[in-house]
Amino acid sequence: MTFDPRDSRGDRDILSLLDRRRIPKHVGCVMDGNGRWAQKRGLPRTDGHAAGEEALMDTIYGALDCGVEWLTVYAFSTENWRRPADEVRFLMNFNRMLLERRSDELNEKGVRIIFAGRRDWRVPRSVLKRIELTEAKTAHNRRLTLTIAFNYGGRAEIVDAVKALIASGAKASDVSEKAIAKYLYINDAPDPDLVIRTSGEYRISNFLLWEIAYSELVFTDVLWPDFRREDLFKAIYEYQGRNRRYGKVGDSN
Ligand code: FPP
Repeated sequence: MTFDPRDSRGDRDILSLLDRRRIPKHVGCVMDGNGRWAQKRGLPRTDGHAAGEEALMDTIYGALDCGVEWLTVYAFSTENWRRPADEVRFLMNFNRMLLERRSDELNEKGVRIIFAGRRDWRVPRSVLKRIELTEAKTAHNRRLTLTIAFNYGGRAEIVDAVKALIASGAKASDVSEKAIAKYLYINDAPDPDLVIRTSGEYRISNFLLWEIAYSELVFTDVLWPDFRREDLFKAIYEYQGRNRRYGKVGDSN
């Protein structure tokens, strides 16, 4: 059941079509297509990232509107260090400035902001400082938790969790799914119910590998800078039409 764009109720009313009792608790977003959005306009790639801020804010407001409690966005992967140095520098500073510009506004709306990823020497000190300040400032909020996956890799997260588990003194017989999950970067979140990837790419690209074992995946051709809350609602509409079986047989079988 994909959203039918000919539906006479139109985009704006898509929220009213959602079943409020089955809103996904946790939505993940791979925010892809910034570079192509900029290239299509003859702009530098970094302008595409800058335009992604509006998309991110509108998506957060959409999540607040419909009652999503956890939103996790992929802002910088462990593989993104291989991009041109100028683009990496831009993304680092942009992330810091975005927090400076937007954290008060998000704090007022009841958004807790946390970061998932390696806080290693590659992340500039000024960015780490801003991450810590933002996490502390918004720590008391519970309406929505926005997790920014930054210097994040799904495999790296599993490796780090296993290392931490071993460092805690665990024996081979202590290793279990539950024990590993306890040491993931964020261990109080429910697994994502829904993961959305923009820009017409059908990949996971090392995003939340452990956590998405049973997530529903929705792909859209919309480039991230054009993504708005209506696109989030459409993805949730599609999610609500899916039959989640978690490896069991369905109710109708
Ligand atoms: C992928 O597009 C996007 C990124 C690597 C960065 C995502 C960053 C933002 C959306 C900026 C706002 C958010 C935060 C939290 C700082 P791409 O560059 O791979 O696009 P392409 O596939 O078209 O080249």
